[in-house]
Amino acid sequence: MYDYMLGGKDNFAVDRQAIDQLAELIPEAVPLARANRAFLQRAVRYVARAGVDQFLDLGSGLPTQGSAHEVAPEAKVVYVDHDPVVAAHATALLRHSPGRAAFVQADLLDPGDVLAGAAEFLDLDRPIAVLLVSILHFLPDSADPQRAVAVLRERAAPGSHLVITHATTMANLEDEERARSRGSSGRGGTDRSPGQIRAFFGDWPLEPPGLVQATDWRPDRPKLVGDWSLPSSLMAGVGKKVR
Ligand SMILES: C[S@@+](CC[C@H](N)C(=O)[O-])C[C@H]1O[C@@H](n2cnc3c(N)ncnc32)[C@H](O)[C@@H]1O
Repeated sequence: MYDYMLGGKDNFAVDRQAIDQLAELIPEAVPLARANRAFLQRAVRYVARAGVDQFLDLGSGLPTQGSAHEVAPEAKVVYVDHDPVVAAHATALLRHSPGRAAFVQADLLDPGDVLAGAAEFLDLDRPIAVLLVSILHFLPDSADPQRAVAVLRERAAPGSHLVITHATTMANLEDEERARSRGSSGRGGTDRSPGQIRAFFGDWPLEPPGLVQATDWRPDRPKLVGDWSLPSSLMAGVGKKVR
């Protein structure tokens, strides 16, 4: 379904029907998915220009439509997803990129498994970029994604980067306290406040411009009219481990 939202061809008729129905109910769903992917691409280019040539993309979905290994062709990329259907298709898709991209089926809430799988392909003693793009808001606080991300931060070598997008709401932006007490959104996800999202970076400083609306993070084109209705619901940032 996500591949179809991004304009790809790796999807089934049932996926297309579901998304067409979703788009009628929630018109911003498809533009949001595309804004999210456009941010991922800008962030991967930025981090690659900073000299990082190893990427660990967690909750990657299908590695299509301008995924990290397509945007940073000099880099090595490990994609991680827990979905067995994604695993089957991703493994087949990545056969075209031997030596450059690999897939590990693992739950990111088990960071030990993730790191063990990644270590078969990446050198974890050198800087990596960990991508947590449009995934953390699917994980409630009761699953303790904060702990899993802390383990990844701890293991990453100095110079590593952490790339995050996370859903929030206008209410969260206006009233951080109310957001804290409210927690979960009605669509089965966890919209967190900017402060809660910032906490996933731990003590890693954020690269300019900090934690901002995804379309405002180092944009490479002027905002389009349709963009104005989107950004309040998706925050984005890139942190760097300095020591
Ligand atoms: C909305 S997609 C995000 C795709 C991609 N990161 C992006 O931003 O374009 C979320 C993906 O996270 C995966 N996922 C959800 N929970 C996960 C978990 N606990 N561990 C690993 N993958 C997970 C889902 O299977 C799905 O493919």
